[in-house]
Amino acid sequence: MGIVLGIESSCDETAAALVTTDRKIVAQRIASQDAEHAPYGGVVPEIAARAHAQILTPLIAEVMREGGLELDQLDAIAATAGPGLIGGVMVGLVSAKALAMASGVPLIAVNHLEGHALSPRLADPELKFPYALLLVSGGHCQILRVEGVGQYRRLATTIDDALGEAFDKTAKILGLGYPGGPAVERLARQGDPAAVPLPRPLVGSGEPHFSFAGLKSAVMRAKDSGLYGDADIAASFQQAAIDCVIDRLRIGLDNSEKMPALVVAGGVASNAAIRSALLSFALDRDMRFVAPPMALCTDNAAMIAWAGAERLASGQSDPLDFVARPRWPLDPSAEPVRGAGAKA
Ligand code: KG4
Ligand code: ZN
Repeated sequence: MGIVLGIESSCDETAAALVTTDRKIVAQRIASQDAEHAPYGGVVPEIAARAHAQILTPLIAEVMREGGLELDQLDAIAATAGPGLIGGVMVGLVSAKALAMASGVPLIAVNHLEGHALSPRLADPELKFPYALLLVSGGHCQILRVEGVGQYRRLATTIDDALGEAFDKTAKILGLGYPGGPAVERLARQGDPAAVPLPRPLVGSGEPHFSFAGLKSAVMRAKDSGLYGDADIAASFQQAAIDCVIDRLRIGLDNSEKMPALVVAGGVASNAAIRSALLSFALDRDMRFVAPPMALCTDNAAMIAWAGAERLASGQSDPLDFVARPRWPLDPSAEPVRGAGAKA
């Protein structure tokens, strides 16, 4: 049995965790920066980097104390090395490098998306490769075929906004604050999902990619029209998003070899309405549905430690001069899609 320290700092959560190779989370801490970013309605990279730099070292010290471990008792130090906001990523990666250098423990530079992709296996020892993964977060919206550690085939991605981003923008339009996903979900419970006619971008298209920019603009027009209540707008937006996700998944999975399980990961995976739509979709296709516990869906360091543990088990580690990567696609062979901007 081994034990890995994980560090996460790619967006607006600073986190550290100790996870064993036999799936025990020994200690974990997450410091959210929501309060710092809330006045701006979104994450401000410079504020994020400064906050990570202030808080990360004490957080690491706390998990080490709680685990009752010295650095040289670790089997690896795993840190997110991208993709993400480069200032924050560098804070975490450079800290990990310094600890690895001082202790002689191997460094593992983890792709944040690989953390999300493998996190369901931390919670569920029965989940075997290959599986279909819907990765839906603030920065990413992809369907992947997960074939093994380090082996990912991208089946679809977004040509504009990520799904979490669409939730955040809808929240902003409705004046619900940041982060918007949970607030939109709460308000949607009181609304009628059929009240507002909203588009389902790309639904019916033969390519399984996503697009949410048009949906967001339609939400803005619905709000400006004054014809609809906010709860109805939230519920109708969420329903449109669900319809898009299910249609895109159907096309993506039809185009790929059959996989026994459908897994959802990333912050948006904590949305109960989306989870329940995915569950019925999976049942219809005779697939097992796996959704990690909520705390493993949003950004955390246990998933980074676990990805490190999986890579350690397959004999991998990284040199201390590993360079942080603001963009780092999981499937480097995937073609960029038309319209795709900054998304990996
Ligand atoms: O994975 P994550 O914590 O960070 C990124 O890597 O982006 O995902 C954060 C995203 C945000 O856009 C947030 O609004 C969204 O996940 N989110 C939700 C819910 N909880 C978080 N979206 C919809 N419904 C939720 N309950
Ligand atoms: Zn994430």
